[in-house]
Amino acid sequence: MGNNAVSENIAVEVRNLTKKYGRNTALQDLSFGIGKGEIFGLFGPNGAGKSTFLSILATILKPTSGDIMVNGYSVREQPDKVKGEIGYVPQDIALYPMLSGRDNLDFWAGIYGLRGKLKKERIEEAIEVVRLGDRIKDRVSHYSGGMKRRLNIAVSLMHHPKVLLMDEPTVGVDIQSRSFILEALSALKKEGRTIIFTSHYVDELETLCDRIAIMAKGRILAMGSPDELKKSSAADDLETVMLKLAGSNAG
Ligand SMILES: Nc1ncnc2c1ncn2[C@@H]1O[C@H](COP(=O)(O)OP(=O)(O)O)[C@@H](O)[C@H]1O
Ligand SMILES: [Mg+2]
Repeated sequence: MGNNAVSENIAVEVRNLTKKYGRNTALQDLSFGIGKGEIFGLFGPNGAGKSTFLSILATILKPTSGDIMVNGYSVREQPDKVKGEIGYVPQDIALYPMLSGRDNLDFWAGIYGLRGKLKKERIEEAIEVVRLGDRIKDRVSHYSGGMKRRLNIAVSLMHHPKVLLMDEPTVGVDIQSRSFILEALSALKKEGRTIIFTSHYVDELETLCDRIAIMAKGRILAMGSPDELKKSSAADDLETVMLKLAGSNAG
């Protein structure tokens, strides 16, 4: 496996990753690493390639060229192994509206191969992380958007993935759900999980992320801690950092 060897501290290693949709290049020769236990944010305008990147990492899309190693497994060659390492919360909600929250979790836990006592434990634990206990017996069709999003996050946690991928987990959710989701991310980081998420909200990126990649047009314009990014662009906030970087990369 010599060529596949990665550092023990690296959870995700992106190697010359390119993705094209026909003639449109959505990701352009990206290479970087994400450390174990890191909260890593992807920030950039619509069309930057954030969702494409997460979909490739989640093994839903194939790279056009290059690869991503997840704890040493290749998304290209070992997608089933990668699936065991990751939990993916997509932008779209994948739930059964006529079932209760708990029955949705039970269904997905079965898909993950959980059985018996362990299944029950994992379901209870996931409910606790996203704080849905008081409404878990209600039908999902009666949930708010934020509650559905929290249930989707719970689904992604039950197999205890080491790497969590969340595509705009807080977009369009109510304030209470948003704060529950951000608390869940902090708690999961404390457990040592690696979290990669996208957001348009600079405040939550700044508060939560160890590092942020600023993306536009399939490229990474800058990467670093929130402080590093602001310092290197002499800006007070990440919005301004992005505008300055996008300006100097125009055309
Ligand atoms: N299924 C698809 N087919 C064709 N083009 C796509 C598809 N999904 C995304 N794209 C294009 O790829 C680029 C990156 O999109 P996306 O990854 O959704 O960016 P982001 O999540 O940052 O908004 C955009 O130009 C978008 O139009
Ligand atoms: Mg997107």
